[in-house]
Amino acid sequence: MSITPLFATPLWNKHVYNLKLLQEIRALINDFNQGVEHAGTVSEDFQQAYITNNRIRMNKKGITSFYSDNFATKPEWKSVRDQLLIEIKALIERDCDTEELDFFRLWATIYPKDAHIPLHCHQNAALSGVFYIDTQEEGGDITFQDPAWLAKSMYAGRDQPHTRYTLNPTDGLLLVFPSWLPHQSTPNLSDKNRLIISFNLTRKSDPKMAEFDLLD
Ligand SMILES: [Fe+2]
Repeated sequence: MSITPLFATPLWNKHVYNLKLLQEIRALINDFNQGVEHAGTVSEDFQQAYITNNRIRMNKKGITSFYSDNFATKPEWKSVRDQLLIEIKALIERDCDTEELDFFRLWATIYPKDAHIPLHCHQNAALSGVFYIDTQEEGGDITFQDPAWLAKSMYAGRDQPHTRYTLNPTDGLLLVFPSWLPHQSTPNLSDKNRLIISFNLTRKSDPKMAEFDLLD
């Protein structure tokens, strides 16, 4: 007799040990933070897709460039974009056809103290991911949730089913996962900003790509 676990979900992960790349991205995120006039805020504001020019609110809730900039199309991001795409393809190429894969969207999020992001998934993409630029041990975890958690909690097994997975990210951690996989981050309890960049990937032949003037 045996039990066969079914339907695993891939979470590709590795550390990118490239301090120069991290430093380049850190500088670009700081440029965005200093120059942005309107930005989406995260934490409790995130569910309403709240966009503001109120700097006090930005500094309190945290900001994302998701609504104001697509860094995949910005010339100043081209170098890090290209380097990151190489790392992503190397990470997943054993399991995925990466030839046509490209960024559909690339954005940064800054989490000040107490900022977090509620449970969400990434719409209209094939694969998504996150690259951690500045982290602290108390800077917040990422938790993935099995979208079938409710159904799986219905059966009368002896143990509660494992429908959540949490990890504590460190600088240079690169994660890639199916865009439909719900995830959230817990509050940043440290006094330093947590900096990340996130991305959605799709194939160049996808009709959605036509609306973006992506850099070659
Ligand atoms: Fe996300």
